Amino acid sequence: MAADGSRHDLAVLLRSRVPLVVIETRDEDRARALVLDAARDNRPATPVFEWVVTEGLRRADVDLGGPQRFNAAPDQVLHWIRDGAVPGIYVLLDLHPYLTEPLSTRLLKDICQSYDRSPRTVVLVSHEVSLPAELEHLAARFEIAFPDRAERRAVVDDVAREWARTHGTPVRADEQSVAALVENLAGLSVADTRRLARAAIHDDGAVTPSDAPAVMRAKYDLLSRGGALSFEYDTAGMADLAGLARLKEWLARRKPAFDGTAPGLDPPKGLLLLGVQGCGKSLAAKVAAGIYGVPLLRLDLAAVQDKYQGESERKLREALATADVMAPCVVWIDEIEKGVATSDSDTGSSQRLLGTLLTWLSEKSGRVFVVATANDIEELPPELIRKGRFDEVFFVDLPRADVRAEVLRIHATRRDVRLEAHDVARLVEASEGFSGAELEQAVVSAAYAAHADGAPVAAAHVLAEIRATRPLSVVMAERVGALRAWAAERTVSAD
Ligand SMILES: Nc1ncnc2c1ncn2[C@@H]1O[C@H](COP(=O)(O)OP(=O)(O)OP(=O)(O)O)[C@@H](O)[C@H]1O
Ligand SMILES: [Mg+2]
Repeated sequence: MAADGSRHDLAVLLRSRVPLVVIETRDEDRARALVLDAARDNRPATPVFEWVVTEGLRRADVDLGGPQRFNAAPDQVLHWIRDGAVPGIYVLLDLHPYLTEPLSTRLLKDICQSYDRSPRTVVLVSHEVSLPAELEHLAARFEIAFPDRAERRAVVDDVAREWARTHGTPVRADEQSVAALVENLAGLSVADTRRLARAAIHDDGAVTPSDAPAVMRAKYDLLSRGGALSFEYDTAGMADLAGLARLKEWLARRKPAFDGTAPGLDPPKGLLLLGVQGCGKSLAAKVAAGIYGVPLLRLDLAAVQDKYQGESERKLREALATADVMAPCVVWIDEIEKGVATSDSDTGSSQRLLGTLLTWLSEKSGRVFVVATANDIEELPPELIRKGRFDEVFFVDLPRADVRAEVLRIHATRRDVRLEAHDVARLVEASEGFSGAELEQAVVSAAYAAHADGAPVAAAHVLAEIRATRPLSVVMAERVGALRAWAAERTVSAD
């Protein structure tokens, strides 16, 4: 039995004559406040007791002075609850380590089984509770809902007042930035919400759009438990990516729908980028996050794979749940075909992973935008390409001459290499069939060569590197040809 929600649902649960309620949470304060709140609704009023091993038992709903220290030990307090037979709600904080002891288990069972004679509800609050089998059937688990928008807003307002009081001047903020902050704090405990709101406000006494990256980064740190989802510091802007004009246009046009500043428009769901190696697919994912101004989270499907039955799916679900909580964000699934290949002869595990991923893709929030990339169409499950999963499937081809010129300029400028217009023209001519990555590599190698010559990098160095390179499109001409032919029928050109 599991219940989910907040105050009201907990009140219902406490009235439903369940003798044992388990609340797994790191937000102890919120759990205690919820129980007190819910108990207040009870008629006749039910006393609420709280126990913690360092203090002992005390009344929590009214102040009767300090705790009763004589029953600080777990078995003492359980004895006291059982024999005292005082009806009420008993919140036991962090009792879980003692649940392995037969005496504690038996005492709890006695208390639960005499509920009809003397209604006592034991509420166990810990970050993790695994009950012994003999107690499990007596218990209901209650999941605390995260603070909703109004509660988060109240926390932010409270932190702002606190800052204003100590500094004697109000926090600088506009409504839109505050709303964005409240949005970004979704999915965290009240304590963490407050901590992050403080970090955002206390540094400069203002709420501005510039707070967002730090808030999202801190939020990711709180959420991630070393899973398959990683935070990418590196996003890129439009100007870092040469060519792919149609793709960039597509992204930019949907920005208002993704932001929610154009309420009438459906938010974009995601893109699948197929194409030739080294032509900017991964870079395009970074550009998407840059254009939308949100964090980039990389989902590594290889890290999800686990040899134990069911573990891979659990890891994937966990990663996807974190992504949902991190919204607004871009989730980048690189080389998607490697994680959900259909041709695998394994136990159907990749099939189930694919199913989990497809379900999430169709149900995820509109504030999570997915960019998936793939090289190998043979390995790509057809379900992924079917219309509706992604908004568009783009093909990223080898760069045309004008795009090669742009790639060369971008990477030369980045390394302080001076190229005149006529140099670029010559290099472009010599690099037919080169990918962006190969052009970048030619510039990088040219710098080494020049260094060895003790000369500044010149176009001649780059040209020599280009001449010495056999591009992949030549080495693997057949594969590239097949990929293009396949893509022509099924995809839209990114450029
Ligand atoms: N269109 C481009 N504009 C600018 N730089 C590019 C472009 N294409 C490739 N590059 C450079 O090459 C590097 C590698 O490209 P990227 O990783 O995006 O290619 P990819 O298509 O994802 O390749 P793979 O299929 O091997 O994963 C980029 O980080 C970038 O520096
Ligand atoms: Mg890549």
